[in-house]
Amino acid sequence: MLVDAYGRPLTDLRISVTERCNFRCFYCHNEGQGTPVASPGAPHGDEMTPREIERIVRVASEVGVRQVKLTGGEPLVRGDVEEIVRRLSPLVEVSMTTNGSMLEHRARKLKEAGLARVNVSVDSLRPEEFAEIRGGQLAPVLRGVKAALDAGLAPLKLNLVLYKEALRRLDEMIEYVGRTAGLELQLIQFMPEMAWQKAHAIDIREVHERLARLASESVQREMHHRRRYRIGEAWVELVDPVNNSDFCMNCHRVRVTHDGHLKGCINRNDGLVATRGLDDEGLLAALRRVVAERAPFYRPVLPTPRAV
Ligand code: 5AD
Repeated sequence: MLVDAYGRPLTDLRISVTERCNFRCFYCHNEGQGTPVASPGAPHGDEMTPREIERIVRVASEVGVRQVKLTGGEPLVRGDVEEIVRRLSPLVEVSMTTNGSMLEHRARKLKEAGLARVNVSVDSLRPEEFAEIRGGQLAPVLRGVKAALDAGLAPLKLNLVLYKEALRRLDEMIEYVGRTAGLELQLIQFMPEMAWQKAHAIDIREVHERLARLASESVQREMHHRRRYRIGEAWVELVDPVNNSDFCMNCHRVRVTHDGHLKGCINRNDGLVATRGLDDEGLLAALRRVVAERAPFYRPVLPTPRAV
């Protein structure tokens, strides 16, 4: 087990398999880089091969990593995600975050390859509003969600990024998830750390209070100490990282960029550790280094020492 200086063991990897995406979400932080994603046809010679991804995961799994989430850009822009999943699924639990637009015809093959679950970003159930927020079409996404549920990729979380205007869509999303077996709702606090969009920030305590009023029960997850609310038939999870030291102190995740750099925190783009060309021993040393250098972005405030 690799444990950092704050006592946090590394149990999860979040691997970006590509920076390319066929959508253009206005809020996109591009995995914390704050740069625009690339178009699907852009050059992509720097993306890791399935073999390179497998090797990172094999070495990481030997020192305690149990879960891997594949992400992008949009992972399914790549035609070989099924192969990536097939290589990883004997080693760790593999899940994926996707925009769902290409899921309809691939859900079954992904399931057969050993994918455990998918998260699909669905910010609105109204086609025009969806297109405005996401720069893509809603209908194929909903067909993808259905295909994933039919293939047994459940529970399936619908991701909704929360900013001021998104709060208006909350009730109808909760209601939709509540009446569709297999779906859950994951509310992700808009992350304004990429300074250009501060105006969209919300008061997350108000959201917790609103959910708590509607809920019959709530539980706290070990991961990030995220809270889950049971509202009617729906499970609603709130991901609230902004200014939240409790979230950071319970983060057990290292990210891997599409070109094979280890990244210890979504909000940090310095201190990335390259893995390309390293042998297994070098790779283990790289993992140790990124874990050793990992620090919570939001730290607990220490009590001010009292004068004696
Ligand atoms: N704030 C919060 N979540 C974001 N995502 C993308 N950009 C942001 C942001 N600025 C989330 C979306 C998507 C996932 C890959 O990242 O919910 O589902």
